[in-house]
Amino acid sequence: MIYRTHLNKEIDEKLVGEEVMLAGWVKTIRNLGGLAFIDLRDHGDIVQLFFSDAKAVSNLSPEDVISIKGKVRLREKANPQLKSGKVEVVVTSLTLLSEAKTTPLIIDDATDALEDTRLKYRYLDLRRPIMQHNLKVRAQIVKAVHEYLDAHDFTEIETPLLCLSTPEGARDFLVPSRINKGAFYALPQSPQIFKQLLMIGGLERYYQIAKCLRDEDLRSDRQPEFTQIDIETSFMDEEEILTLTEGLLAKIFQDVAHKKISLPLRRIPYAEAISRYGSDKPDTRFGLEIKALDSLFEDSEFTLFKTVECIRGFIVPNYAHILTRKVLDSLNLEAKKFSPHGLIALKYENGTLLGSITKFLSEEKIEEIIQTLELKNDDVLILGGGDYYKVSFMLGAIRKQLGDELSLYDKNVDDLLWVTEFPLFEKRDDGTFTSSHHPFTRPSEATIQYLKSQPEKVLSSAYDIVINGYEAGGGSLRIYNQDVQKQVFTILGLSEEDIARKFGFFVEAFDYGTPPHGGLAFGLERLTMILCHTDNIRDVIAFPKNLRGVDMMSNAPRPVDPKQLEELGIKID
Ligand code: AMO
Repeated sequence: MIYRTHLNKEIDEKLVGEEVMLAGWVKTIRNLGGLAFIDLRDHGDIVQLFFSDAKAVSNLSPEDVISIKGKVRLREKANPQLKSGKVEVVVTSLTLLSEAKTTPLIIDDATDALEDTRLKYRYLDLRRPIMQHNLKVRAQIVKAVHEYLDAHDFTEIETPLLCLSTPEGARDFLVPSRINKGAFYALPQSPQIFKQLLMIGGLERYYQIAKCLRDEDLRSDRQPEFTQIDIETSFMDEEEILTLTEGLLAKIFQDVAHKKISLPLRRIPYAEAISRYGSDKPDTRFGLEIKALDSLFEDSEFTLFKTVECIRGFIVPNYAHILTRKVLDSLNLEAKKFSPHGLIALKYENGTLLGSITKFLSEEKIEEIIQTLELKNDDVLILGGGDYYKVSFMLGAIRKQLGDELSLYDKNVDDLLWVTEFPLFEKRDDGTFTSSHHPFTRPSEATIQYLKSQPEKVLSSAYDIVINGYEAGGGSLRIYNQDVQKQVFTILGLSEEDIARKFGFFVEAFDYGTPPHGGLAFGLERLTMILCHTDNIRDVIAFPKNLRGVDMMSNAPRPVDPKQLEELGIKID
């Protein structure tokens, strides 16, 4: 049987007078007694169907699947909301292909269903035009990636899903081996080691749309299973890699969003990003820049300020009337997650500086603050004191929250930048070091001399691409010199034995002629979120997990049959 001759998106004035067959889902039925109308939805668009006899639709329900035959004619009154809005199809015959029960959620962009219901009935949620749009945007991004990287001589290569557990920051998902009882594979957190081995293998330009799996706490922009646009090249320096990547981003924005981004993108060193924006993924679409306020406040009578490492803050202009005590209290709760002393707010209203710490400030001090910071009526000063990084990250988080909640930026403007010159290591509270990116990241030429003496001073050749305050991707040049790699492992506290056990095979490969190499990976979902203007990663994944890591349709993960466990030699307490 032929179900359709056209897609809904092809139905327009050019077809007036022609007979067509269409197939899809009944979106709405309007039975006007004698006449009836149906809005028919397929995977792209909606077409209005006209029935001269309402009896033809009397046994239909929304979401039934039908195929119809009819003639296209101009509508009496066009509907500008629809692409096919100037025409309708006068139905001459209808076949009911499949009946639908009443659906548990409204199949429309403006559904009021809870997210868990949407995830439980994902196949219904996916019928909503917005979800179809998002998934198409995702596919268009992938298409642009293939076109661009193919044109730049990159080869798409798949790497294994069953791997050895390697250190990349998050926890691994483990897969028990039945044949090798007691042994486990790990699912890849990223293809990092494989792509570097491909460079040693002489492939020179690799890419992959790669599935990555990380057992980490989930957030609105994090899933346990996500996809990277993963890239690695040999014989390119940092500048060349950034330029290549910018070209790819420009193509994606042009092809998918029809937006021109101007290149080269801005580059902000990590230290500057932290100091001005309190974040390594700064959203620079709005101001509220953080300033050092030590000299202004350290001689006040407020004891906390006398003892802390630093005092920093930013001004929120014109919002004192909105930032009520209740709002500030809730911001302070958030602030305390980052810095134990939380935040302090000072409001400048009707010529008076108000706030809990003003009692510790002399009249002259208050005047000095107002003058130095050029405070205007209705301004709020948000302050923090304590450890430099803790205070900066606290102010950065509050700055971002205020930027979002007070709508301080134009959502249609995209803000793309690189954050560069990350520290190579992070110092833990116990004084030991961990990699900021991963252990294979190359120290920068300018700071490598500190590797032995002052590891905390060493910067890396790592770079993150930040779009609208999201870390959309990141990468680095890699170490290709065995001695440097060994020194880095030593600083990370790995013994010769640890190295041999954890990645002996990888280190060995470097003995056989390793080209200088580097690369990066974009989060495909993050890019799609940005281009779809959603802040929920689950909106750009066909079958995501919820925030508890559960697939609401199948209820995975679930306990398995004891027989399966027995075969694998696994006992659960
Ligand atoms: P990194 O760990 O920074 O680097 O990851 C690269 C990008 O992947 C995205 N991403 C995620 N997206 C959704 N859910 C998650 N849980 C998640 N985790 C990361 C982010 C991030 O910028 N192998 C290196 C890359 C390299 O050095 O080449 C890596 O994986 O957008």
